[in-house]
Amino acid sequence: MAADAHCVCLDDFEKYAEKHLSLMTWIYYCSGADGETTLKENRRSFRRIRLKPRVLRDVSTRDLKTTILGREIDIPICISPTAFQGLAHPDAEAGTSRASGTFNTCMILSSVSSLSLEDICCAHSGGTKWMDIYVWPNPRVTKDMVQRAEQAGCKGIVVSVDICQVGFKRRMAYVAGDIVPRNAIIANFDKYCKNGIMNETTFLDEVKCGDPSATWADIDWIKSITKLPIILKGIMTVEDALIAVEHKVNAIMVSNHGGRQLDGVPATIDVLAEISKAVGDKIEVYMDGGVRTGTDVLKALALGARAVFIGRPVIYGLAYKGEEGVKNVLQILKDELSLAMALSGCRTIKDINESIVMEKNLYCRL
Ligand SMILES: Cc1cc2nc3c(=O)[nH]c(=O)nc-3n(C[C@H](O)[C@H](O)[C@H](O)COP(=O)(O)O)c2cc1C
Repeated sequence: MAADAHCVCLDDFEKYAEKHLSLMTWIYYCSGADGETTLKENRRSFRRIRLKPRVLRDVSTRDLKTTILGREIDIPICISPTAFQGLAHPDAEAGTSRASGTFNTCMILSSVSSLSLEDICCAHSGGTKWMDIYVWPNPRVTKDMVQRAEQAGCKGIVVSVDICQVGFKRRMAYVAGDIVPRNAIIANFDKYCKNGIMNETTFLDEVKCGDPSATWADIDWIKSITKLPIILKGIMTVEDALIAVEHKVNAIMVSNHGGRQLDGVPATIDVLAEISKAVGDKIEVYMDGGVRTGTDVLKALALGARAVFIGRPVIYGLAYKGEEGVKNVLQILKDELSLAMALSGCRTIKDINESIVMEKNLYCRL
């Protein structure tokens, strides 16, 4: 399950995917919005942060376990929702589900998945599954999806709030076309087309993003239709984080959608500390965007994330070897984090705090 000669770090999976996926699929996965400033910045900003290791602290055993919303996970490395995993490998989301279950971590299911949420949840009963939804224009669809997620055993509802319209991907436009044919049936929405809630030819426009007229009142409404905890994904400012606290959501994820929505926003790692400080211990804060190494995970936890989530590396793992490839990705990150903890003097996740990173005003000038 550990690294092999081809893939010893997460960048190797990306190179493999670039070489082996069709051009269209590759561009769909790797691209970011507009000039891709934010996409690049997500990774660059991690490299600017420097660590301050402590020594002589008996790190002979390390414990990587933590909890998210009260549920124990074995590693603070979880899986962000990414659409259409079937384009990467026939194992699709079922492979990701089995890999995340084996590592007892959290997987967020994309609503725009190749397999239905029921099939993904059934694939492995281990780990924690959260369901990602948008505030769709049709409330019947939103409500039904939440109920299906509850019935299938999901333990949280993630509302992606940064996609009231889909960001423009220039690189996709250059290779011409849309990854999803107009007449595609997407597993989760199949039933709404069949029973007439959605129009078979226009439903894609309705489901590919949230309703642009959505407001915080919609979050209150989603809270009112479920007992599951609500996690808001796509929070990038202290202001919105504080409003999220007022609306009593359970957690937020600092995310810029992997640089796929508004180009020009900062790297998530650059706003994480101010957001996590502002909300304190009122709600949990997670982050995603550009996490590719164990030291990236260490830095994000030090700057206030309770756990990190990864998007593209999972797809690239699938492209490499399906379920096994996703396990490879998780194992490498786990090993790298464990080593980084040892070398920085941290035995448990609780030992990781801001004192092990250099002050922001110092590393920002690098
Ligand atoms: C191909 C692709 C599809 C995605 N689909 C979704 C989605 O369906 N819902 C969502 O909230 N975010 C989606 N995202 C964003 C991811 O959840 C995540 O925020 C991002 O990939 C994290 O950055 P990283 O890829 O650098 O790890 C997608 C990202 C990619 C690359």
